[in-house]
Amino acid sequence: MSKLSKTKIEEYLSNCGNTQVFVFESIDSTNSEAKRRINEGFASDGIFVAEHQTKGRGRQGKSFFSPAESGIYFTAVLHPNTSIEDTVGMTAAAAVVVTDVLERITNKHPMIKWVNDIFIDGKKVCGILAEAVSDFESNINKAVIVGIGINLTTDAFPEEISQTAGNIGTMPDKNLLSAELFMGLKAICSDLTERRFMDTYRNRSMVLGKTVTFSRNDIDYYATALDILKDGSLKVITDRGEELLLNSGEISIRF
Ligand code: BTN
Repeated sequence: MSKLSKTKIEEYLSNCGNTQVFVFESIDSTNSEAKRRINEGFASDGIFVAEHQTKGRGRQGKSFFSPAESGIYFTAVLHPNTSIEDTVGMTAAAAVVVTDVLERITNKHPMIKWVNDIFIDGKKVCGILAEAVSDFESNINKAVIVGIGINLTTDAFPEEISQTAGNIGTMPDKNLLSAELFMGLKAICSDLTERRFMDTYRNRSMVLGKTVTFSRNDIDYYATALDILKDGSLKVITDRGEELLLNSGEISIRF
């Protein structure tokens, strides 16, 4: 079984001199730990990775199922030298990095469900939670935290996600995986202004052309997903012929 090791992750990292690695057997949440450290003055790039989370956090206040040994719970702390507006693209950029890495490991075609859930064979295998610690005076982010949870071999899911969640079907070297995720994220930081990675994002989207449903201001919509713009927003046309741009929130796909 692949075990997390600070030394091995450090060996796999190349050209990431100033990166500190923190490995935990169990922690509440690698994102929360990274935030706590930043607030205490941690100012380098960093990797926080755990075998198990007791309070794994997902988007929109949801929890992220994080059992021991069968998954990887990873947070990168990065310092892209961009404006807060440009840094918002990190969410989509991270989805591209994760699909690149998982494609190589699995030989399958990971797909992105807008905004940033990763699916393989129709099941969600990975969730991404990107957060920023900002200095509003300078309009520069102090740090960006990119949390990635991947179900490697997890198969006993809680009832509420048992129909939608899946795993990547293999147990890779978690240390190499951690290093590859970090190096991919670090590299893509230089494209946050231009966002050339959005072409790959669109190519791997599982929503474009599909009928989607969503709620806005307590109204339920049926719509067709038309495009994903460079800023990451989803352009849809509703069944009443109205074009809308969605910036955030959950959508469901009708197959
Ligand atoms: C989602 O699916 O809504 C996002 C899930 C993000 C989970 C990862 S696991 C590592 C990091 N620590 C957390 O508490 N959350 C992220």
